[in-house]
Amino acid sequence: MNKQTDAFIKHAADREQTAAIGTSLPHESAALHVSGEATYTDDLPELHGTLHAALGLARHAHARIVSLDLAAVRKAPGVIAVLSAADIPGENNCGPVLHDDPILADGEVLYLGQPVFAVIAESHELARRAAALAKSDDVVRYEPLEVVLTPAEAKARKQFVLPPLHLKRGEPAAKIAAAPHRIEGTFEVGGQEQFYLEGQVAYAIPKEMNGMLVYSSTQHPSEMQQVVAHMLGWPAHGVVCECRRMGGGFGGKESQSALFACIAALAAQRLQRPVKVRADRDDDFMITGKRHDAVYEYAAGFDETGRILGARVEIALRAGYSADLSGAVATRAVCHFDNAYYLSDVEIVALCCKTNTQSNTAFRGFGGPQGALVMEVMLDSIARQLKRDPLEVRLANYYGVGERDVTPYGQRVEDNVIAPLTDELLASSDYRARRAALAAYNAASPVLKRGIAFSPVKFGISFNVPFLNQAGALVHVYKDGSILVNHGGTEMGQGLNTKVAQVVANELGVPLSRVRSTATDTSKVANTSATAASTGSDLNGKAAEAAARTIRDRLAALAARELGGEPETVQFRDSMVHANGAAMPFAQLVNAAYLARVQLWSDGFYTTPKVHWDAKTLTGHPFYYFAYGAAVSEVVIDTLTGEWKLVRADVLHDAGQSINPAIDIGQVEGGFIQGMGWLTTEELWWNREGRLMTHAPSTYKIPAVSDTPAAFHVQLYRNENAEPTVFRSKAVGEPPLLLPFSVFLAIRDAIAAAAPEANHAPPLRAPATPEAILDALEAMVPPAATPPPDSSRAARHERAAPCVTGHTDTPCGHGRSTTGCKPG
Ligand code: MTE
Ligand code: HPA
Ligand code: MOS
Repeated sequence: MNKQTDAFIKHAADREQTAAIGTSLPHESAALHVSGEATYTDDLPELHGTLHAALGLARHAHARIVSLDLAAVRKAPGVIAVLSAADIPGENNCGPVLHDDPILADGEVLYLGQPVFAVIAESHELARRAAALAKSDDVVRYEPLEVVLTPAEAKARKQFVLPPLHLKRGEPAAKIAAAPHRIEGTFEVGGQEQFYLEGQVAYAIPKEMNGMLVYSSTQHPSEMQQVVAHMLGWPAHGVVCECRRMGGGFGGKESQSALFACIAALAAQRLQRPVKVRADRDDDFMITGKRHDAVYEYAAGFDETGRILGARVEIALRAGYSADLSGAVATRAVCHFDNAYYLSDVEIVALCCKTNTQSNTAFRGFGGPQGALVMEVMLDSIARQLKRDPLEVRLANYYGVGERDVTPYGQRVEDNVIAPLTDELLASSDYRARRAALAAYNAASPVLKRGIAFSPVKFGISFNVPFLNQAGALVHVYKDGSILVNHGGTEMGQGLNTKVAQVVANELGVPLSRVRSTATDTSKVANTSATAASTGSDLNGKAAEAAARTIRDRLAALAARELGGEPETVQFRDSMVHANGAAMPFAQLVNAAYLARVQLWSDGFYTTPKVHWDAKTLTGHPFYYFAYGAAVSEVVIDTLTGEWKLVRADVLHDAGQSINPAIDIGQVEGGFIQGMGWLTTEELWWNREGRLMTHAPSTYKIPAVSDTPAAFHVQLYRNENAEPTVFRSKAVGEPPLLLPFSVFLAIRDAIAAAAPEANHAPPLRAPATPEAILDALEAMVPPAATPPPDSSRAARHERAAPCVTGHTDTPCGHGRSTTGCKPG
């Protein structure tokens, strides 16, 4: 460790108060992250004899494999072995729920990019070169079959990976028909690549007596263990999976790390040598699934205030070639259509459309964003039809407290804070005054148009499959008083290990520097759930708290014997143990406990109370509680180029009583910007053959630091969880991803400002790329109706108002625009 890192850690330790919980302590690996010293799977020292695997990918989106002749691949330089489906001793499947995910294609390929064979070679580079021979007709010969790419095509053929989901309450059709006002329409939102900075990677090391150690960059070590064991035809106890940290997962490593774990383990078993497989970025894009894109058909009936009387939506999700987690994703989409709004009469249909594309999977929000987005678009359209402020229409539809508070799936909303949270944000962001100011700006600005929007979020916390809501932990107190904590959760940058360590430190009254989190390891805590559904700290924090409490109780009993008093009154703080008016150092008590033969380590286990779900009726109590938040975003668009910029964003988010405000604010900021990328710049595009053409950062645009707004005000809402979660905190990982709905809606607002005479909402699709923005503008202002005498783009640009706001308006030419107006 270098000097600076050392100094940073010392500084962090000095700043620690004993109240480790609720304090903005740095991420346990912050110093290592910034110095580059943090060890990821690919950084593990390679054992002597390590080989490298690469995958030969399908060239067709749907085809029968007529012949597979791997002789040429085997002869390629550095190649040790080439493996295909026939080499798999156990089950050729890495699917998490249904067994419909072949590890290597067998007889048929179902998407372009599907792995057909694995090359094992002396180096990563040589393996990749040999795997590229998959492009040759001499190696794989195909008979192309009919390709279905879009959800619309799949829906027309009733081609689904799982049966449709259908939830209905009340009489929506009758209510819509009888309503004084109605909207009806379609909408579409694109998918999203997780774009974890560390790609998929696994390193498998064969062990004696049919054992396999798999280092995997995974959110779900237990699943990797199970899938590898099935693939090898072994009992699970032969396989250990370990993950110290990921360079991001974002849902993309909840199930889909399995293929890579299986390939590494298969090759390691066959060759009895350590084997690593690391997908290059393009291959990662081509092989793995993404966020489900969706097309919607919706209808709603409403009154003069915009209050919805009846609503109907059909959400057609592109599942891809296999089921993966699509059933649970679709269920979460159904359970988030309501977002923060009471819907008395409602019908929601979700379709998991089977297409010849990558198998779409978990991505931050897990279907929730896809469910709620269309509701926000509908409310925006309702407001524009009524010529009301969309904010007022939202407020008119909010869930009530004690009334109008039952969700379509039958769970009562008992912890609703959306109204006071909204009030606070509207005041701090100065929404109403800014909205009025924008109208004046737009009236004077023919080319640049500004838009502002407010959007709320209510997000259900718990796995929507009840049995997954369980966790275990293991806490060791060593003789010197230092503490090691291990739990079933995985660290992907979100700060889970820091929070869990804070919980343990708090329980035992020591500073965080006394507690160390270790790698997630299936031989330490068994049968864990994925670190997902934002439940990492809720579940593992509670399990670790329970383990620490058991040890604390044992120590308290000893302290009471040594110092007098009752065990219940013993206090642990400031590295001291206080009892009966006296005190002794924690480490001294621990050593005494060891000599007295007191067990100084313990396990802990937690199951979330209250959750239940009926998958047939789509009703129950799927969520332990809800997390809330809201955002106000202001954008400026260039109506000539379709370029835009987020000028300011104000966010207020409910993380309950935060365990670590700095980490939680980081999650809110990151989730916001990631969600903004989904809705604006990130575009997945498959050509007619089903080849994903946007498979690298050159063509797939994730937000950069320059895309964060100059004014970005993110605050945590003062609240405590109504449920007794750890420290009464709330999960924070996913809900903020829905906050940048306000960015998308602000762009709609700016487009609407360009056509004040139009009586319909801008038909803006997501992502709102410049092309999408121009298309929407054109649909608002039919060329014939455009007032300027010369409506050519060049002429309109000549009339452009000078830049009035400095660098926040990139279309002025200081930023992305090359056809700039005259800087003022
Ligand atoms: N934050 C970082 N830095 N990296 C990630 O991969 N994943 C998100 C979120 N925040 C992610 C992240 C997703 S999809 C989930 S479900 C949660 O973190 C998981 O962690 P938690 O349950 O501990 O919040
Ligand atoms: N989120 C993430 N993963 C899941 C869920 C969920 O709600 N349900 C089942 N797997
Ligand atoms: Mo997060 S999508 O639940 O991994």
